[in-house]
Amino acid sequence: MYNFDKFIPREGTHAYKLEFRKKVFGSDDVLPLWVADMDIETPREVADVIQQRSLHEIYGYTVRGSWFQQSIMDWQLRRHQWHVREEWIEYAPGVVPSLVIAIMAFTNPDDKVLIQTPVYPPFYSVVKDNNRELVTNPLVEENGKFFIDFDLFDKQTLDPKLKLFILCNPHNPISRVWTRDELLKIAGICIKNNVLIISDEIHSDLMLFDNKHIPIASLGDDIARNTITCMAASKTFNIAGFSTSYIITSNRKLMLEYRRVLMSLHLFTGNVFGAIATDAAYRYGESWLNALLQYLEVNVRYVQDFFNNYLPEVNVTDPQATFLLWLDFRKWDLLQPDLNNFMVDKAKVALNDGASFGENGKGFMRLNVGSPRLMIEDGLNRILRARKMKM
Ligand SMILES: Cc1ncc(COP(=O)(O)O)c(C=O)c1O
Repeated sequence: MYNFDKFIPREGTHAYKLEFRKKVFGSDDVLPLWVADMDIETPREVADVIQQRSLHEIYGYTVRGSWFQQSIMDWQLRRHQWHVREEWIEYAPGVVPSLVIAIMAFTNPDDKVLIQTPVYPPFYSVVKDNNRELVTNPLVEENGKFFIDFDLFDKQTLDPKLKLFILCNPHNPISRVWTRDELLKIAGICIKNNVLIISDEIHSDLMLFDNKHIPIASLGDDIARNTITCMAASKTFNIAGFSTSYIITSNRKLMLEYRRVLMSLHLFTGNVFGAIATDAAYRYGESWLNALLQYLEVNVRYVQDFFNNYLPEVNVTDPQATFLLWLDFRKWDLLQPDLNNFMVDKAKVALNDGASFGENGKGFMRLNVGSPRLMIEDGLNRILRARKMKM
């Protein structure tokens, strides 16, 4: 019914994934398996809504009605069994902007903000660029799986200057789905130590292999009151270019403060397509998503089998969610610049540099498998051929 194998050239669409290769990798001649969007068409129903709206040639200021909240409420209930109320939802012009708004709203300059590393690079910049002090809680790796050092987490959040913790669930780049116990422990420590949780759950609909997403705010009223959840349809349905997302909080005080900053920055309008795309995706995109997840699972298994068979020293970190795989090349024993140069100059593939996710990302690369299988096969064969030439 859905043909995810279809190759769709993106040349001429100003796609970041293509256009920025020269700047980031110094070459256009690299297979783009990096930036976190997919080379896969959005559901037909979403494209139809956008195309229909584009036929009307006035693209003026646009408002969102309660239909926007309603489709979010229905989606959260259906996919995550989370009962969300209309007044808990507010628009955001993207998840990263909502992190910035939260930092501006809930911390003062020189306050401390905690993140768990390795992590999506903007988690660092949103803190540092806004003159807050960054505190890192490195995830602990054991046999290719990542865990939280809760003793350190408790110690760090005890600091009265530490006001905010940015959770990433599921966690990019390690593809980890935090368990109920882990989330309860995180929430318990944050409440005890008076630390607000901003939970980035942008990848929450991309659950693989029977893993289940648990919104941390769904675990209890006290946790919900201490949390702002950031979500979007953007990753799930490949509509990130609309720069549209939303936040959820049951805490009215937090909501008012979030809104105050959103308004003060004049970022509340949004663009003409973002809300209707989100609405259409949530209303009509579910069977497409279920099929996509199966396709991604086969891509992931393909990558795991490939490395097991041909390059067994490379570990594919236990993939539980997202279309992003965290590959451990440490046994190749290369310095990070040499690993990057190998991928670009020898293999001619564009993967994300592991070190851009933090110091403890050295020796790793991030691979995006949200592409037709032939592209993934091509990318892995390029790596294998280049590696064999070197040996
Ligand atoms: C964890 C995480 N948060 C946020 C984003 C980006 O969100 P937005 O484009 O809505 O700012 C990404 C994109 O890769 C991501 O992985």
